[in-house]
Amino acid sequence: MAESPVERNALRMVNIEKYFGLVCALRKINLEVGSNEIVGLIGDNGAGKSTMVKILTGVFPPTSGEIYIAGNKVDLRNYNVKRAHEHGVETVYQDKSLGEKQVLWRNFFIGREITLPFGFLNVKKEKEIANEIMVNTIGFRGKGITVDSKVSKLSGGERQGVAIGRAMHFEAELIILDEPTVALSLKEVAKVLNFVHKIKEAGKACIYISHAMADVYEISDRFVIMDRGEIVADMAKKEISLKALDEFLLEYSHGMKDKVEL
Ligand SMILES: Nc1ncnc2c1ncn2[C@@H]1O[C@H](COP(=O)(O)OP(=O)(O)O)[C@@H](O)[C@H]1O
Ligand SMILES: [Mg+2]
Repeated sequence: MAESPVERNALRMVNIEKYFGLVCALRKINLEVGSNEIVGLIGDNGAGKSTMVKILTGVFPPTSGEIYIAGNKVDLRNYNVKRAHEHGVETVYQDKSLGEKQVLWRNFFIGREITLPFGFLNVKKEKEIANEIMVNTIGFRGKGITVDSKVSKLSGGERQGVAIGRAMHFEAELIILDEPTVALSLKEVAKVLNFVHKIKEAGKACIYISHAMADVYEISDRFVIMDRGEIVADMAKKEISLKALDEFLLEYSHGMKDKVEL
């Protein structure tokens, strides 16, 4: 498909709304993510971040609105997790995305196995690809860890690396990480951030959700701030320092508290 400059975005959400019964979880969400942009999505608990992720990944549909992925309009009436994969949207959930007892290479191709004629698993090919991605694309340096290692042997950060590597292998246009560093040690967080840098280097786009502001600041090109179902600020990294961003968030939450107390 010919790409016009307007449609170079990895993602465009237009007037997305989501109601759970009478509760409005998302209100008129308009968001664009550039084809090689890392967007840090920030907001307090309950802001609607995960709801937005679930809509993008086909877990449930929005109540109204439109979604375009790499310029292609998504048919939201027939959207699900499999279709989201086909469109190039991959989500890396915190730990849950990896099967503990499996070996790394099998995990890599779960649900998308490479088969030989007669349906046999192409073990050699799967191992080769998994190794290539983990070592060269992701830069996996885990001591004693190979594609034959069990997932349960990997550290938390390494598991995130496998999930990110898998998303990159399947040619994701947009990789979404919803709080990938919760419960990880500092050293492990550093690994995850390094993997996110690989997403950028590979020319892909990413939405990175985290409460750790220093981390979000370091890896993001842009910040989108949500509050109670709405996008309340959208700024480029070059427009704001980490200190100013922290202050903005603090003042914003205080302002909100004052309003609530009135
Ligand atoms: N499945 C659901 N059913 C009803 N309400 C939900 C559901 N999922 C989320 N919500 C509500 O939507 C709002 C946004 O939640 P969520 O997207 O999880 O926020 P965040 O990820 O930013 O913490 C909250 O008020 C939450 O209670
Ligand atoms: Mg959430």
